[in-house]
Amino acid sequence: MKTKVAIINDVRDDIEYIKEAGSVIKEGGTVAFPTETVYGLGADALNSEAVKKIFIAKGRPQDNPLIVHVSSKDLSYLVKDIPKVAEDLMNKFWPGPLTIILDKKDIIPDETSAGLSTIGIRMPNNEIALKLIELSGKPIAAPSANISGRPSPTEVERCIEDLDGRVDYILGGDRSDIGVESTIVDCTVEPPMVLRPGGITLEMLREVDARIEIDKALMKKPTDDLKPKAPGMKYRHYAPKASLKIIRGKNEKTIEIISEMLENYIDKNNKVAILTTDENLSRFNKGEIISLGSEKELSQIAQNLFEALRKCDDLGVQYILCQGFEEDGVGLAIMNRLNKAAGYDIIDV
Ligand code: TXA
Ligand code: MG
Repeated sequence: MKTKVAIINDVRDDIEYIKEAGSVIKEGGTVAFPTETVYGLGADALNSEAVKKIFIAKGRPQDNPLIVHVSSKDLSYLVKDIPKVAEDLMNKFWPGPLTIILDKKDIIPDETSAGLSTIGIRMPNNEIALKLIELSGKPIAAPSANISGRPSPTEVERCIEDLDGRVDYILGGDRSDIGVESTIVDCTVEPPMVLRPGGITLEMLREVDARIEIDKALMKKPTDDLKPKAPGMKYRHYAPKASLKIIRGKNEKTIEIISEMLENYIDKNNKVAILTTDENLSRFNKGEIISLGSEKELSQIAQNLFEALRKCDDLGVQYILCQGFEEDGVGLAIMNRLNKAAGYDIIDV
């Protein structure tokens, strides 16, 4: 398949490309596009044949439902009813990195919802994405624009790397500034439940509705008795090719243990990367040392996380040693993604 790539520098000047990509969606094709969280791979959410193409392009498991992206808050044609909490959350956080789960109407095919009776919906806060949805005239189903299992792309080059030749169109824009996928809140259950942590933190959600809980299975290794409620959260995911280990504890102890492990791996002729913070950069002097950002700005760490994991693969390292972060605010999303990327290989020190 020939993929057309168009980089959008200015939505007004480059509107023809977005129109063209909108027509591709309308005609049942696939388009990768930027959002503020990560890049998405879109198709007409109401067209089952189009949606199947997303699953094929990504190699995505059939039981993992897609999020539907909209450009307006009028959801009445897509969902059965909108509880007050959902309305309040939409009014507060849309457009933005929040997906709301609601009971779907039959207009949404089973392929999009992976057979579930509910559907996740989100209005992205990105000009190109919103224009694409508007000009296609369709709600757009879009998972992250990576090959299944790999870290989500936050830059267009990574979409091209994963999807060139597998999709019809790639629209490029700025790098995604949140860097981790949207927060998902299930509004069909009481109390409303966070199924995936993201850019909108639990603290921010609880300001809108103090009852909101978080899926207890999210931060632990899934077992038969305790599985995450979002189908996609049970898979190994966001994973680099290298073996990733997370070392978590007090800063000095963490540095000490990482340094010991580093020596040990390097002695055995392994190539090793260290993921750390600006503050700790100078504490290491061997291996490929990468800063995720300042420990004072967890939002920076989130923004750089997936790109750093992909860089480690570019460097061809066998091991990645990453320091852990506090699970407060967006730190919860960071640790959730790191846990999954590491296959829950966490060393508490
Ligand atoms: O930020 C985002 O949400 C990005 C951008 C492109 O918008 N999209 C994204 O999609 O992360 P994806 O497919 O990579 O992740 C969707 C997650 C999966 O874990 C899936 O299982 C869950 O949402 N999900 C979707 N619909 C659901 C539903 N009805 N019930 C429970 N979980 C659902
Ligand atoms: Mg994904």
